[in-house]
Amino acid sequence: MEERIVSPNLEEDEISQELSLRPQKLSEYIGQKDCKEMLDVYIKAALKRNEALDHVLLYGPPGLGKTTLAQIISNELNVNIKVVSGPSIERSGDLAAVLSSLSEGDVLFIDEIHRLPRYVEEVLYSAMEDYVLDIVVGKDNQTRTIRVDLPPFTLVGATTRFGDLSAPLRDRFGVVLRLEYYTDEDLKEIITRTAKVYNTKIDLAAIKELAVRSRGTPRIANRLFRRVRDFADIKNDGVISLEICKEALTKLGIDSSGLDYTDYRYLKAIVETFKGGPVGVESLAATISEEVSTIEDVYEPYLLQEGYIKRSNRGRIATEKAYKKLGIKYYKGIFE
Ligand code: ADE
Repeated sequence: MEERIVSPNLEEDEISQELSLRPQKLSEYIGQKDCKEMLDVYIKAALKRNEALDHVLLYGPPGLGKTTLAQIISNELNVNIKVVSGPSIERSGDLAAVLSSLSEGDVLFIDEIHRLPRYVEEVLYSAMEDYVLDIVVGKDNQTRTIRVDLPPFTLVGATTRFGDLSAPLRDRFGVVLRLEYYTDEDLKEIITRTAKVYNTKIDLAAIKELAVRSRGTPRIANRLFRRVRDFADIKNDGVISLEICKEALTKLGIDSSGLDYTDYRYLKAIVETFKGGPVGVESLAATISEEVSTIEDVYEPYLLQEGYIKRSNRGRIATEKAYKKLGIKYYKGIFE
């Protein structure tokens, strides 16, 4: 699959860059005001009572800072954090090993928690609820369960798909927080901070331009910042001016609202191939040769939020805004 500059997913070669940009404290974390306020109270209360923080579920589109928040939670609690990802835990023994390595009050962060295999998930229930591990030993009709005590700990789960979590797992989180796309104002602040971290001069107009083209997503803002800075280093003595910013973003194939070639292909498929919709996601996926899950988790959330598409029970519909974007005349469809 082609690499996408506006992909909200973290690429392997970006990890070290991203880590140096991440805020370490809640007070340095920009945006997500509601989440921050809640976490601040719950963290202070847990510290005051000298107890483990209740389990926290963070959900929302990729690239909005779920991992960063988990790290901040552990920093603010002055405890260690263990980071694992749902799909990497294949056996219940793997999870048991991680859980039994925790110390009192530690944070266990499980990214993509909706992708934990079900039999692994079941080990979590008693661990979350009673801080115990029930391990089944033996074979056939000779099995018995050994109960192992765990220290009180905090599970922080992250998911892009709240609806894919099983009810028993969902119910065991005391704190459930939804991360929203960032406002342009928040993104401007994040880009200003990034410029400071990288010691780069950037014009106010360029900060604004980057913000409006970053799809409400700090990870994308920071990636675009790095690419634009490359252009500035070579062509403008390292200063990111509005002109350099626009030139670089145009070369990268990002339009004035942050949409790229793939978004256009997606919108064109609905409008041209399926006459504006409604069209099911499977047909769309086949038309543009992408995976259904990639379309649902990565492309669509931002297009929905910005009102280029709508979802109905019969599928996706292109809105007037999508037609405008494509420069195609809009006739109000019978489905709208
Ligand atoms: N870098 C990436 N996301 C951030 C955020 N929410 N606040 C501050 N810096 C960030």
